[in-house]
Amino acid sequence: DTGDTTFDVGFANTAACRSAITYIDGDEGILRYRGYPIEQLAEKSTFLEVAYLVLYGELPTRDQADEFEDRIKRSSLLDERMRDLFRCFPRRSHPMPVLSAGIMALSTFNSDSTSVSDPDQIETATINLLGKAPTFAAYGYKNSMGQPMLYPKNDLSYIENFMRLSFGLPTEMYEPDPKVTRALDTLFILHADHEQNCSTSTVRLVGSSQADIYTSVASGVNALSGPRHGGANQQVLEMLQRIQADGGDADKFVERIKNREEGARLMGFGHRVYKNYDPRAAIVKQHADQILSESEHHDALLDIALRLEEIALSDDFFKERRLYPNVDFYTGLLYQAIGFPTNMFTVLFALGRLPGWIAHWREQNADPASKIGRPRQIYIGETERDFVDIDKR
Ligand code: SDX
Repeated sequence: DTGDTTFDVGFANTAACRSAITYIDGDEGILRYRGYPIEQLAEKSTFLEVAYLVLYGELPTRDQADEFEDRIKRSSLLDERMRDLFRCFPRRSHPMPVLSAGIMALSTFNSDSTSVSDPDQIETATINLLGKAPTFAAYGYKNSMGQPMLYPKNDLSYIENFMRLSFGLPTEMYEPDPKVTRALDTLFILHADHEQNCSTSTVRLVGSSQADIYTSVASGVNALSGPRHGGANQQVLEMLQRIQADGGDADKFVERIKNREEGARLMGFGHRVYKNYDPRAAIVKQHADQILSESEHHDALLDIALRLEEIALSDDFFKERRLYPNVDFYTGLLYQAIGFPTNMFTVLFALGRLPGWIAHWREQNADPASKIGRPRQIYIGETERDFVDIDKR
């Protein structure tokens, strides 16, 4: 009998594992990948360099970086029959289940790299995921528009390739804007890993059963799709669009949140760990200012977002609950300015988070002491009672 005592149980607030990949101090707003501060990586590194760091523990030398990128590029092409897979989905399909299905399908099309013990197969699967996931994401987007799916071009960078696969057409040249490419590369860096968030914990729990890397990562994609997690970036933009459609009064909207009228959540605010400003949000905001200053979206939605942040940072309701902008608050504005529709925002989050998911699966799989995850619970159901025949119920 637990009386009226409440407990934080299961994954909610317990140490799920030991890891050397990412360090977060939620009170100080600190985030480091393998010891390097996120602010330095966002300013000085590239997404593929950070993926190498997250996966292998050290920043690559130039030769290591070039070889890593070359292997990934050569893996971006899909089996021709996989292209048909993307044509089977209805155009109205949300691209997150399409991405998840594509990654799951890799365990069938690439069944020669599903070992959980062979280091060469694990490395092959790692490169397959990094190389093919952007192609899957772009194909899901193209399919939703009824447009032809291009082939990757190995003379482009990782992000340029993804941009061309997403926005290019076979009928015309596609020249990605370097400022946009840099902004997207930085956004992917900011999402590369984040300790034991819901989706990464899911990858580790599924992987702890010795499910292969493709299956485990596909589970992470599914966990990320929820609006409380990665789906929040899409919800933020839809929230800003609702405020704009209702006259653009951010103050009125905040009052509704405080009165619990709008589903009781200011999307893009709050965090399970950061009880201070999410360091990633500050960096996204800088890029949003740069890119949006040249975009027609700047005047309306960014101003509403800035006003929401200004109110929330000074309002006791948010301060008492230690609610600050998180990584999702400004990313949607940037993704939209780059040209992506709202239902692609969480897919972009997934592409950024991919190195982290893979690194956690590899870290756990490499630990000889690792066991199958088996969270416990506090039972709050009926105490013992005897069976009653149906005619006596
Ligand atoms: C991500 O874990 C990670 O690292 C995730 C992530 C990553 O990189 O993987 O950082 C990515 O998922 C960021 C979070 C994206 N989600 C959102 O922006 C959705 C909106 N945020 C909330 O759903 C919420 O803030 C959470 C889920 C993110 C965190 O919630 P907590 O810390 O568990 O807080 P809680 O639910 O216990 O609420 C505490 C109080 C409550 O008020 P009271 O009932 O005590 O009066 O704060 C309130 C909540 O109602 N509250 C909010 C709020 N978030 C919490 N009120 C209004 N707006 C919000 N966003």
